[in-house]
Amino acid sequence: MKNVLPYLFEGLVVRGFGRGGKELGCPTANLEDCVVANLPDELKVGVYFGLASLNGKVFSMAMSVGKNPQYKNEKKTLEVNLIGYNGPDFYGSTIRGLIIGFIREMSSFVSLDALKAEIANDIEIAKKQTENVEDLKHQYFEHSKI
Ligand SMILES: Cc1cc2nc3c(=O)[nH]c(=O)nc-3n(C[C@H](O)[C@H](O)[C@H](O)COP(=O)(O)O)c2cc1C
Repeated sequence: MKNVLPYLFEGLVVRGFGRGGKELGCPTANLEDCVVANLPDELKVGVYFGLASLNGKVFSMAMSVGKNPQYKNEKKTLEVNLIGYNGPDFYGSTIRGLIIGFIREMSSFVSLDALKAEIANDIEIAKKQTENVEDLKHQYFEHSKI
């Protein structure tokens, strides 16, 4: 898988099931279908860390790609949490994301609280792993308008 990372994507934020913020306390931006369809086959489903920009501001991101086994979704989705973003919903906006590294497989947990705790841990990992990525930030986001 290593050779497909870092992987850059851009796409519109669409509505998911709306469970992220409400049930998990972790708002997630769902990317439009064509972004998911274009992901390379080598990029396996799972949880990743990286960077993502919205309106010219770059955030660390924790994201998932897969069918959300906790919810038994039928469709594969790509969902991004912009770490530290606390502004309004941004459905219809375009975000640019850079997937840098793999964190773990996606799984289903005994409870929602257990999933919440795991996602909180993912976010801590993503923060740590993106502390020293200035080079990637410059390379992929400096001249971007997104
Ligand atoms: C960092 C991160 C880790 C996630 N890990 C899992 C997981 O292990 N299992 C799972 O079913 N869903 C996982 N998800 C997906 C969430 O279940 C999903 O974002 C949430 O249900 C909101 O979906 P919705 O926007 O369609 O409502 C993860 C999402 C993120 C951002």
